[in-house]
Amino acid sequence: MPIAALVTGASRGLGLELIRQLGRGERPPRYLFAACREPEGAGATELKNFAKCYSNVKIVKMDVDDLNSIQETAEQIQKVLKDNGLNLLINNAGINFGGDLNGITPEIMMKTYTTNVIAPVMVTKALLPSLMQAAQQSDQHSFSSEKAAVINISSIMASMEMFNIQNGKAYSYRISKAALNMVTKCLASELKPHGILCASVHPGWVKTDMGGEKAPLLKEESVQGILKVLARLSEQDSGLFLDWRGQRLPW
Ligand SMILES: NC(=O)c1ccc[n+]([C@@H]2O[C@H](COP(=O)([O-])OP(=O)(O)OC[C@H]3O[C@@H](n4cnc5c(N)ncnc54)[C@H](OP(=O)(O)O)[C@@H]3O)[C@@H](O)[C@H]2O)c1
Repeated sequence: MPIAALVTGASRGLGLELIRQLGRGERPPRYLFAACREPEGAGATELKNFAKCYSNVKIVKMDVDDLNSIQETAEQIQKVLKDNGLNLLINNAGINFGGDLNGITPEIMMKTYTTNVIAPVMVTKALLPSLMQAAQQSDQHSFSSEKAAVINISSIMASMEMFNIQNGKAYSYRISKAALNMVTKCLASELKPHGILCASVHPGWVKTDMGGEKAPLLKEESVQGILKVLARLSEQDSGLFLDWRGQRLPW
């Protein structure tokens, strides 16, 4: 497991489950930052209760739509880490308003793009010094999520080749996750010389507020799979689109 990890959107759903499983794993990160936009709000109660039992879990306030919030949190994290780097960043926070052509508006498209595309880029940019430090400090030569990695939680709904309208129209969501996949490609290429890998991961269709009740996968199963996939990542996986079972997905 990495020494230091950060998960965005950790108040509920897959983000909270990632924090739970990373936090109580056999080799938990020494610093596990759970970023959520309203740590004082009722929506963060489960996360706060969990963090009370695991001293390595540090809740940090981050609204990924707000550049100041991202920057302040990045500085706070760097202060906590002192001379340590950040090994693993999971850009998990996301939104989906659904909707067909009739329901789409520029406002919905902009809002979705802000959270699902701009935010992962800006969070990664703000934390890049810490990620680079982790890569430099690591005694591992090969790429891995223990050394330094950025994981973008994407969706099969972004795949052009596997496009299936039965999965829902969700124009702005599909478009935003397709753009996020391009973010992964760009980051993988730019960060490679620094020893940092980047991959897009589709978590499956999961029972969460976003996935809904009909989803076949429990968040526990999805996250177990994701963490196994992360543990196996190597240089050849950088810039790829994988699912929670480690299968490669077409763009
Ligand atoms: N569930 C699925 O079937 C499925 C399938 C494919 C991909 N995904 C992807 O998996 C990720 C997690 O989805 P989920 O199912 O866990 O969704 P969810 O239950 O709706 O949770 C979304 C999380 O994102 C956070 N968030 C949204 N906007 C934010 C912002 N501006 N700043 C900080 N946090 C923000 C929410 O925080 P608040 O509590 O503050 O709102 C919440 O913690 C998303 O990227 C989603 O697109 C999910």
